[in-house]
Amino acid sequence: MRKKYLITSALPYANGPLHFGHLTGVYIPADIYTRHRRLQGHEVLHICGSDEHGVAIMISAEKEKMSYQDYVDHWHGKHRDLFRAFQIDFDFFGRTSQDYHREEVLKWFSALHENGLIGKKTEKQLFCVDDNKFLPDRYAEGTCYLCKYPNARGDECPNCGEWIDPIRLIQPRSKISGSTQIEIRETEQYYLLLTKLVEEFKKWFATKAHWRNVVTGFVEGLLEQGLIDRAISRDLSWGIDVPLPEAQGKKLYVWFDAPIGYVSITKKMLDEKGNGQDYLADWWNNPSVEISHFIGKDNIIFHALIWPCMILGSKFVQPPTEIPANQFLNLAGKQFSKSTGWYVDAEKALAEFGADSLRFYLCSAIPENSDSSFTWKGFASSHEEFGNKIGNFVHRSLSFLDKNWPEGLSAEAFVGAEKNPQFATIEQYHQKIISALDSFQFTKYHQEVIQFSQAANEYFHAQEPWKQIKQDRAAAEQTLAISMIYLTALAIFIEPVVPGISSKILAHFEGYLDRDSVARIYQGNLGLLVKAFNNGFKNRIAPQVLLPRLEKNVLIKWESELQEKETASAK
Ligand code: 2FM
Ligand code: ZN
Repeated sequence: MRKKYLITSALPYANGPLHFGHLTGVYIPADIYTRHRRLQGHEVLHICGSDEHGVAIMISAEKEKMSYQDYVDHWHGKHRDLFRAFQIDFDFFGRTSQDYHREEVLKWFSALHENGLIGKKTEKQLFCVDDNKFLPDRYAEGTCYLCKYPNARGDECPNCGEWIDPIRLIQPRSKISGSTQIEIRETEQYYLLLTKLVEEFKKWFATKAHWRNVVTGFVEGLLEQGLIDRAISRDLSWGIDVPLPEAQGKKLYVWFDAPIGYVSITKKMLDEKGNGQDYLADWWNNPSVEISHFIGKDNIIFHALIWPCMILGSKFVQPPTEIPANQFLNLAGKQFSKSTGWYVDAEKALAEFGADSLRFYLCSAIPENSDSSFTWKGFASSHEEFGNKIGNFVHRSLSFLDKNWPEGLSAEAFVGAEKNPQFATIEQYHQKIISALDSFQFTKYHQEVIQFSQAANEYFHAQEPWKQIKQDRAAAEQTLAISMIYLTALAIFIEPVVPGISSKILAHFEGYLDRDSVARIYQGNLGLLVKAFNNGFKNRIAPQVLLPRLEKNVLIKWESELQEKETASAK
């Protein structure tokens, strides 16, 4: 049955380059899932955009001596281009610094306020006398009171990963001026009163026992500690104004406005594309829509606890159906870090290796159940495996066909192919592949694809059509017919992960299969794999190299760049 899927990818901060950790943890799985659901014939929206507020962005813009707006404009454009180049397709890539977003956020604030879920409280905060400013979030630094790390930030300690209560920092200092003239002063902030929503939240959360352990475990831990009300305003000059007359100078906390971005961007998209659909009635508030938030594990608290509470409290939209949060992809065992230089330039790597090879490798490394690592060795062997299994099958079957049947395969060669035992193998893999993606098991999907291509190779190898042709040309022709069916199925099954290569293979079958048949095959109408060749098959394109061989010295160059970084960071 045709369903509706609303898929969101975490809005990346418009603050510095994205690395493979981001791509693998969020955007590649979200894109694969989107392509999968689309191929299944469902109505799908994939929504993303830049997260353009928050102190981290302010600090970076100040460092670059750029206006906040110019700074986020720059990174918004860079991210949009990188996603495009990686073939990560969104229906809309929006922005949280735009009016359409602010308008939506104001509606949410008012609803929560009217429902008595936003309150004012006085809190103690660090105030820098020299800067004459409060120091919210990352504007404060100091020694972590938990692990004694000297460069803990006012919101989080990068060393022990714990949330930080800034007024407990040891020897606090201002990130703006470095001043240590810090006092603790009182300031009033607006709070989201999570304590009023505990029971309702627990009831809803109990329906999510099937979610990944990393999500349920984290939320259960927070519930055990007891929920606390959370400040949703800051004394800052960049962000969305708290929409109350008495809240002069206060901005909304970035994590209050960011998730509303999923909704505001959907509205913007539907307004612009003008298909008459309503963002609430047709999507966000439609109980038959599956809403999935793709995020990394550092975002769990916001998506699995605070955002659902905002939803339950405002009753504006449906809470998420699924949160397939991933763990982290590290770089050779250590967390990617732009500040220490421990990262791979994704743009440069893309220019060198192309999207398909990287997507294929990164799909195998999606950290679904535990942290995983990007290594150049891993990339090289994935590239090679792709060539040896998928590339090899494409090349050897098509070349053999072209050489021996330049006139094409006859219709008779395909007759009865459904009854061939190989057809049952194709059916089995089809099922495994679809069910892996239905249940967000991307690495399993990757393994099944590899095994499927192996089955195709083994079949070709075992049949030995180069020998068959000498004794029984019709039998050899049948082998090639089955091989073309395998090849078509392979091209269709790999489309979610390597859409570029899939379409290169499918180009050989132009005139035999249209887009609609491709989708119907993906949906399980495997009989079409045979029907497509009712009149036989003639290949009209010379087989191309799908992935060029990796030059050894290119890899050595990337490896040694990384080693240099490691040596530099150890100093
Ligand atoms: O962690 C991050 O990169 C955040 N910018 C994610 C925001 S997701 C959503 F809530 F907008
Ligand atoms: Zn710490």
